[in-house]
Amino acid sequence: MLRTHTCGELNISHLGQTVTLCGWVQKSRDLGGTTFIDVRDRYGLTQLIFNTDTDATLREKSRGLGREFVIKVTGDVIERASKNTKIPTGEIEIAVTDIEVLNAAKLPPFLIEDETDGGEELRAKYRYLDLRRNPIRNNLVLRHKMAQEVRKYLDELDFIEVETPVLIKSTPEGARDFVVPSRMNAGEFYALPQSPQTFKQLLMVSGFDRYFQIVKCFRDEDLRADRQPEFTQIDCELSFVSQEDILNIFEGLTRHLFKTVKGIDLVELPRMLYSDAMRLYGSDKPDLRFGMEFVELNDIVKGKGFSIFDNAELVVGINAKGCAGYTRKQVDELTEWLKRPQIGVTGMIYCRYNEDGTLKSSVDKFYNEDELTNWAAAFNAEKGDLMLILAGGADKVRKQLNELRLEMGNRLGLRDKNTFAPLWVVDFPLLEWDEESGRYHAMHHPFTSPKPEDIAMLDTEPGAVRANAYDLVINGTEIGGGSIRIHDRGLQSLMFKHLGFSPEEAQKQFGFLMDAFEYGAPPHGGIAFGFDRLASIFAGLDSIRDVIAFPKNNSGRDVMIDSPSTIAEAQMTELKIKTTV
Ligand code: AMO
Repeated sequence: MLRTHTCGELNISHLGQTVTLCGWVQKSRDLGGTTFIDVRDRYGLTQLIFNTDTDATLREKSRGLGREFVIKVTGDVIERASKNTKIPTGEIEIAVTDIEVLNAAKLPPFLIEDETDGGEELRAKYRYLDLRRNPIRNNLVLRHKMAQEVRKYLDELDFIEVETPVLIKSTPEGARDFVVPSRMNAGEFYALPQSPQTFKQLLMVSGFDRYFQIVKCFRDEDLRADRQPEFTQIDCELSFVSQEDILNIFEGLTRHLFKTVKGIDLVELPRMLYSDAMRLYGSDKPDLRFGMEFVELNDIVKGKGFSIFDNAELVVGINAKGCAGYTRKQVDELTEWLKRPQIGVTGMIYCRYNEDGTLKSSVDKFYNEDELTNWAAAFNAEKGDLMLILAGGADKVRKQLNELRLEMGNRLGLRDKNTFAPLWVVDFPLLEWDEESGRYHAMHHPFTSPKPEDIAMLDTEPGAVRANAYDLVINGTEIGGGSIRIHDRGLQSLMFKHLGFSPEEAQKQFGFLMDAFEYGAPPHGGIAFGFDRLASIFAGLDSIRDVIAFPKNNSGRDVMIDSPSTIAEAQMTELKIKTTV
């Protein structure tokens, strides 16, 4: 080893020892006869002191050192005159006797400090420098720790880690596939897996009983803060289990991670029906760090001559506690925010419960004080509260009110990153109607089992059929999802029929799985956690980008390696890909 110690481990107990450290120059201060340099590595920071008055060679060497030079220094551990209690090495410094520059460095394009002056683009281009900064590196250390704990927990429960292929087959369900041309099979393509779903089910047919994999998945979808084109799942599958068993085992994993990584004891996870989540929060991933549940008002507001309410399928609102003092300007600004095309409301009705006990609404023309008192009762409102109400088609208005609820949660400081509110959402619908294609799609995926008691409704009322499917939600983010699977060829064929596949298409796409079901497929089910999302929640981040070492930007580009990129004509020819020219 080039060094005797790291830059984070020396303290007062090492006084008098001669040590050698290696690291990067964080900063240097030349005070005339003395030069101080902070040297940094992954483990911390140590102050070096050069007595440049007496040693001309040292003076020469220490002056030539710029930020981020890689150095090796030897010296004696001495007690500092002015101590820094903020860092573990703050009581000592190294009186340098020898220094060697292992590599010079260009001036970095941004400050390599906890608070940097570098913008997103610049930091992305020089990601290897950004990764030197403590906050980013700490996220990856946290992620590493979580991965170890996942493996420990699952291994303890007899899960076997199996790798599944990355070059697979494109299927029409789910998101768009990334495809890879095959040189040896001209005109044919592999697809990168959106998840190892079918393979893990085949492993159950093979009798593996309990499988897991921390695995890269690929989806060609529009990117958001919690989506990357390649991301990582903690993917699991189990045989001979009920939904209840799966929820318990993975609640256990969640609890284990919170305990071992964050030192938090979680209470038992609440379970919420999908239908309740939609009714009370307008979302299948409710943020339960705060209440502000929806209050439906149809019964008390209709028939008073206010056409917007009278004509609406649903009138529904929330109680913004303590917001009666909002000025007209603030309410207008909130309404404008809701009118943006992303949310698309046409208007918002409000009612103030003033501190003096009076009620004042934006529709006083239609509702008298007695009626407003009924509103207040429905909202459980008190003096000082502000009731915010939207009206329209039920599905749409719930979605819009969900946005408003989350926004009010932000404004009222109710979404603290150090508070964690996990829950299970259960009983998802099996199918959802897709306007664009004019057919039903599987809400989770086509291998999810309908609830046996609902199968009869597949022909009559497909949209009402519930699935044995569940999601783990934390702080308004979908962290994981899974289901009990179909393990019977007949039911799987029926599912494909309802999804609009002809028997031939179903056989072509998924024949391998249905064939396997005829060779003794055990009842099975599973779940996958989005590992990046879980890590970003643990790290208190809004985006998953900074728990990924080398993420893509919002256009799906890696600006550091400049990818995607064109390929040479010869490569195209070899792959038998026709160019348009
Ligand atoms: P699902 O599609 O719900 O289920 O994915 C599981 C979890 O993966 C995470 N996730 C993502 N994370 C980052 N970027 C993305 N683009 C992205 N897409 C999904 C989410 C999500 O909850 N095979 C099934 C699981 C199963 O049934 O066992 C599946 O992939 O956190």
